[in-house]
Amino acid sequence: MHNGTQTLRSSAAGVSPSETFAEVSTVSAAAPLMSVRDLRVSFPSEDGLVPAVRGVSFNVLPGQCFGIVGESGSGKSVTSLALMGLLPPGPGSIIEGEVNFGGRDLRRLRPEQMRKLCGSEIAMVFQEPMTSLNPAFTVGDQIAEVVVTHEHVSVRAARARALELLKEVRIAAPERRLDEYPHRLSGGMRQRVMIAIALACRPKMLIADEPTTALDVTVQAQIMELLRVLQGEYGMSIILISHNLGVMSEIADEIAVMYAGRIVEQAKSAQLFENPEHPYTIGLLGAIPMPGRKRLASIRGRVPDLHALPSGCTFAPRCPFVEEACRQIEPTLHPTDLQHLTACRRAPLDRVL
Ligand SMILES: Nc1ncnc2c1ncn2[C@@H]1O[C@H](COP(=O)(O)OP(=O)(O)OP(=O)(O)O)[C@@H](O)[C@H]1O
Ligand code: SF4
Ligand SMILES: [Mg+2]
Repeated sequence: MHNGTQTLRSSAAGVSPSETFAEVSTVSAAAPLMSVRDLRVSFPSEDGLVPAVRGVSFNVLPGQCFGIVGESGSGKSVTSLALMGLLPPGPGSIIEGEVNFGGRDLRRLRPEQMRKLCGSEIAMVFQEPMTSLNPAFTVGDQIAEVVVTHEHVSVRAARARALELLKEVRIAAPERRLDEYPHRLSGGMRQRVMIAIALACRPKMLIADEPTTALDVTVQAQIMELLRVLQGEYGMSIILISHNLGVMSEIADEIAVMYAGRIVEQAKSAQLFENPEHPYTIGLLGAIPMPGRKRLASIRGRVPDLHALPSGCTFAPRCPFVEEACRQIEPTLHPTDLQHLTACRRAPLDRVL
């Protein structure tokens, strides 16, 4: 799953917010499948524009699982929806930046081109499968419909493919499930059906936004394991979004931690877990019980109001390591170690901890 990347260290000085991993610090062996540059999303409100995403850049390599983690309201879903042009159109909303996928700038595609791409080359799975499944149609019909739309095969062939897909997502008694309605299935099974629908067109990329949040812990682990296996079988890239770093640990190759609409830390998964540099990530890890690791205190306070972001570092009001200078200028993402970017002016924190 890991793709070879070679890191060139550069100093923190002079690195702008839009220059990230790919641009300043890594030379990738493989060309990225998706490349996001300086994505910004603002929504209008009575109090002015709300900056939900404030300059996010990252690359997703072919076959890579790229995790995006952060507390509620950090901008994870808005980022993923903006990538796909799926944000609900609203007067005054502003979306800026570039999203390159397989050589095309998605932000310049016409709506019909985008619709064709969605569900064929890029598929999405959301938190609550019941909102995406139609309660009036059987599971088999819903999967077959997607197969017919994209592969232009007969209804009979599509039904056979639907059965094959249910087997691929390791659903129990797949023949029987084919003719069942969604409400008869458990939450975990429904999510497997959504994954089957997502896979129906053999996408190059799967975007999974909190795919296991509504499920109990055992089923969460099973769905994550399924995604890991299918990623290998299909050779697809995954963008996995979660508020839970523990969910990421088994599957993500690289993780971006978001806070108040920005990436504040990004590193290979093992590096992030073993050597988190940003106080926010350290706090998030504190919320995860890990064998052999001293439990760190969970993060106090709440995510800032996007209408009135604190000056300087947006994490300053909650940060145990804050000093006066932190409140002056918002730190930019800069290399603090090999293949490790952090937006904290005191990182690496070894000397502080
Ligand atoms: N259509 C919209 N109009 C106005 N504000 C929005 C809209 N969609 C999202 N927001 C705001 O943007 C911010 C980021 O929302 P987002 O849904 O991306 O958070 P998230 O990280 O996915 O959180 P969660 O873990 O709860 O899903 C939030 O403050 C949210 O209220
Ligand atoms: S810049 Fe300062 S306030 Fe912000 S995370 Fe780092 S130490 Fe904390
Ligand atoms: Mg969300």
